[in-house]
Amino acid sequence: MAGHVAVSLPLLKDDPYFVEQRRDLGSRLNTVDPRLDLDKEILRLKKERNAVILAHYYQDSEIQELADFLGDSLQLAQAAKATKADVIVFCGVHFMAETAKILNPDRIVVVPDMDAGCSLADGCSPRDLAAWKRLHPDHAVISYINCSADVKALSDVIVTSSNAEKIVRSFPADRPILFAPDRNLGAFLVKKTGRHMDLWQGACVVHELFDEKRIVQLKEHHAAHGPVEIIAHPECEEHVLRHADFIGSTTALLNYAKGSKAKTLIVATEPGILHQMQKARPDVTFVDAPGEDENCKCNICPHMKRNTLEKLYLCLRDLKPRLEMEPDLMEQARKPIERMLSLS
Ligand code: 13P
Ligand code: SF4
Repeated sequence: MAGHVAVSLPLLKDDPYFVEQRRDLGSRLNTVDPRLDLDKEILRLKKERNAVILAHYYQDSEIQELADFLGDSLQLAQAAKATKADVIVFCGVHFMAETAKILNPDRIVVVPDMDAGCSLADGCSPRDLAAWKRLHPDHAVISYINCSADVKALSDVIVTSSNAEKIVRSFPADRPILFAPDRNLGAFLVKKTGRHMDLWQGACVVHELFDEKRIVQLKEHHAAHGPVEIIAHPECEEHVLRHADFIGSTTALLNYAKGSKAKTLIVATEPGILHQMQKARPDVTFVDAPGEDENCKCNICPHMKRNTLEKLYLCLRDLKPRLEMEPDLMEQARKPIERMLSLS
């Protein structure tokens, strides 16, 4: 009788042929092998592709940790303009990636999830904006960067929450202004600059839902345990902003948090920013500003959170979904963006 012979076979899972087959199948099915170390793979592919990862503060913390550059809308546009990478991986929303592409028409720009939109951009169509412009032919059009490339192409200048006040003030005092698409940022700017502006009636689904009464109650509750401050993004409504100790862009809020003397900070913006705040100030308690419905995590931006680590890996691996834009549109939209950059 033949004896049992133990043969040491190489593991099939490590065979280069099967590794390649699995990759190919994964690519076709758009699935990710659960055994992969995604962080490692993303860093490997990033190097292989000569790619740069730009990420907004509202991205998941695991994406923030892998980003080469983290910033607010203005800083991300500046970083996109400065990069020498062949591939820009934009972890943010569609209008932000469009801005990166407009500033780099010859580079590959990929977004982990191309459906990551923005309620402000969606609420302002180029057709309606063009009609509004026709009604006010003598007005300058200042648009918040949270708008589509088509809307940018119809604008005189673009602003972000970090440079809007300066850019509005750069227009002659007697020049009438149309401001689109965020009515809350617009109203905040009218108050700050004393300039009259006609405001497009758009709003952010996240920042409109903070509840004044519950924020005030929360502040009173924490005040019993030490100094507490409220910090807010200017996309919030006026009845929330009036209670804020500081108002600014995501980067400005982070910088304020770094220097604050408060023991507790109530933050009225998307909670993705808390990751960097908590890292910078482990001694401070950060609390999400509440919305009306205590059972709803309404402050989470559903668009920003479409991007995941898996999708980031897939878009680096497959170089898609890729943002493609019409050259004419890019040229038209580039002028007001460049104007913003030169005024910032
Ligand atoms: P920041 O420019 O302040 O990062 O804001 C972007 C944004 O979409 C806020 O909702
Ligand atoms: Fe747009 Fe609001 Fe999301 Fe910012 S938080 S990307 S403004 S929907």
